[in-house]
Amino acid sequence: MRGVWSRYQDIVIHRGLDFQVLAGEVVALVGGSGSGKTTLLREILGLLPPHRGSVRLFGHDLRTPDALLQRDIRRRLGMLFQQGALFSALPVFDNIAFPLRELGALDEAWIAELVRLKMAMVELEPAHAGLMPTELSGGMTKRVALARALALEPELLLLDEPTAGLDPARSQSFVRLIRGLQQSLNLTVVLVTHDMDTLRGLDCEVAVLAEQRILTRGALDAVRAFPHPAIARFFNLFPTAGA
Ligand SMILES: Nc1ncnc2c1ncn2[C@@H]1O[C@H](COP(=O)(O)OP(=O)(O)O)[C@@H](O)[C@H]1O
Ligand SMILES: [Mg+2]
Repeated sequence: MRGVWSRYQDIVIHRGLDFQVLAGEVVALVGGSGSGKTTLLREILGLLPPHRGSVRLFGHDLRTPDALLQRDIRRRLGMLFQQGALFSALPVFDNIAFPLRELGALDEAWIAELVRLKMAMVELEPAHAGLMPTELSGGMTKRVALARALALEPELLLLDEPTAGLDPARSQSFVRLIRGLQQSLNLTVVLVTHDMDTLRGLDCEVAVLAEQRILTRGALDAVRAFPHPAIARFFNLFPTAGA
């Protein structure tokens, strides 16, 4: 992202923001509530064009008028939304099958096989395929949403607050799952989180969103030591167990 300005009506959210992620990197975006983290993910996804500046993915400007190229870029992205955002009227199986069916190129037997694989990947039992979203625990909802995000075998995975709302044990096991998948699938990951255990568990780069831009970026301990009131505020609000 280069020189990105974002605004809702007259309110400026990002002001000339630059943000770069290389293939294979795991980068966590942290920042206060309302600092524009979700907005930034939506811009990477192409759901929200920035007011000014550019977003490039896989070497292509997202503003390309080439519809086929646009579709190809989207297929290389997977997104886990903040609330899971499953289709409430569809069982687990159909939620995960959704992006596969949308391709319009696979027969149902092949789709069933792929869904089975994705479910195993996120450690869901085959027996869970028929459950409705309302029958799922918070942790299972996240796993189903992750399986759906991975359905098209993306290169870049975006995760918005992946562990929010999970108890510490489930949160830890979800972080381990993400870490394992990141390594085995060689994923590039951009996530939003304010959970210290998630940051440590993923062993990621940390980028701090404050003052409408990426204020600093680096290893967690280096970022924490960066002298700025926004950093002090952010990290004191969420101290680590040992601090
Ligand atoms: N669709 C929208 N219309 C107007 N304001 C919005 C919209 N979406 C988000 N905002 C505002 O923009 C700011 C940044 O939102 P968001 O990117 O969701 O922040 P974060 O994810 O960091 O908490 C917030 O003040 C929010 O209220
Ligand atoms: Mg958000």
